[in-house]
Amino acid sequence: MTGAYTDIAGIRHGERALVLNPVLKSDRSRRVDDGALAETIGLAHAIDLEVAYALTVALSHTVPATLFGKGQVENFARIVGEEQIILAVVNHVLTPVQQRNLERELKCKVIDRTGLILEIFGDRARTREGQLQVELAALNYQKSRLIRSWTHLERQRGGFGFLGGPGESQLETDRRLIEQRITRLKQDLETVRRTRGMQRDARQRAEHPTVALVGYTNAGKSTLFNRLTGADVLVRDMLFATLDPTMRGMKLPGGHEVVLSDTVGFISDLPTHLIEAFRATLEEVQLADVILHVRDIAHPDTRDQRDAVMNVLADLGIGGDDKRLIEVQNKIDLLPPEERLFLAEYVARISEESGRALPVEGLRQEARGGLIGVSAVTGEGIPSLLKMIEKRLSAQHRAYEFVVSLSDGAALSWLHAHGKIIERRDTKTKARLKVELDAADYGRFESKFKK
Ligand code: GTP
Repeated sequence: MTGAYTDIAGIRHGERALVLNPVLKSDRSRRVDDGALAETIGLAHAIDLEVAYALTVALSHTVPATLFGKGQVENFARIVGEEQIILAVVNHVLTPVQQRNLERELKCKVIDRTGLILEIFGDRARTREGQLQVELAALNYQKSRLIRSWTHLERQRGGFGFLGGPGESQLETDRRLIEQRITRLKQDLETVRRTRGMQRDARQRAEHPTVALVGYTNAGKSTLFNRLTGADVLVRDMLFATLDPTMRGMKLPGGHEVVLSDTVGFISDLPTHLIEAFRATLEEVQLADVILHVRDIAHPDTRDQRDAVMNVLADLGIGGDDKRLIEVQNKIDLLPPEERLFLAEYVARISEESGRALPVEGLRQEARGGLIGVSAVTGEGIPSLLKMIEKRLSAQHRAYEFVVSLSDGAALSWLHAHGKIIERRDTKTKARLKVELDAADYGRFESKFKK
């Protein structure tokens, strides 16, 4: 999908790209840095760029004009020429000046990490709200670039800014146009959000419990979503196949209906002003009854990925000990047989509901939080996962108030049979009851007895 925002850098799919991963020498976290290069290549692939050359570049200090040193820039320019590179992706924040200077020196387009992520988001947004959010983020990004390069021009003129000039007024016009578009977008977003809020209210009134999928990008959320719901959601071996919340109903083995919602894939070091761009999907997580944290357990960086996701969840007020959280260790089909066996046995013990038999204290801790190994591709472990979700839902007892007509004997006896009556007051025609039920039973009562 293309929109106004996708022409930030005018990137076309299939272009040959050079990926540069600058690492400051003072930064000692080497292992993560190698991961950073791999991740950036993955992000570039996500918008179908052809990565012709990728390298990590050690920087002893950053050069204000070009970020990289002179010799390094010359080396890049040579690579660009030899490899017929169209676009250089720099996994770092670039000032507008650095971007322009690098473009001039390398004789190709240059984008930084924020630009790249905006491209991907723009490409992936599927709902109206998602598209608006991405466009807004892109415009804010462009605006900051315009302002900064404008002040830069002024400074270059050495105080003769008052003379003005064609370039300056063009920038002012651009800026005003962007401002107008931003105001318009914000209004549109507000409208879309209000509608969405109403839809959500309606869903909550229907009181189907919700199960939200979260996880690092490419962990397998969409595949699991499909496996659980049989829905045909876009699945690609690409990062960020999901930007907008996608919701489907599904039935648990006990017959309870729940709403499953897929959310955006998390990545590490998301530029802060982009977080707003998918806040909507995260709202779904905050409201969920069960949260499935899907992990790619076969990925070499699986621990770091988990930490990145847990940090975002913590920002949303969802801690590691949140009762709603289940850690789904996905892709166990890719594990060596002995690890897979261990995980399967481990899961079997956990589903017996006690962490006691577990060999390692760390595992016992995790087990209490709820953990399960599955393969969304082969279906292994899925029945246990479903049972776990069901158990989680029934563990959530809440007191609900009902007013039931005394003539409605079926509803009254259903409540007595399935819930714990905390309080009951009868008038001539009606009973007012306070009843403790689990979320799933409440859902069943609503669909059975409310018109
Ligand atoms: P984003 O939308 O980028 O956040 O990705 P996602 O978490 O929705 O991942 P997706 O479901 O698109 O899966 C990513 C890749 O992993 C695809 O190539 C899937 O086929 C693959 N995959 C997902 N689950 C499994 C699994 O259990 N086993 C194996 N072998 N591959 C899997």
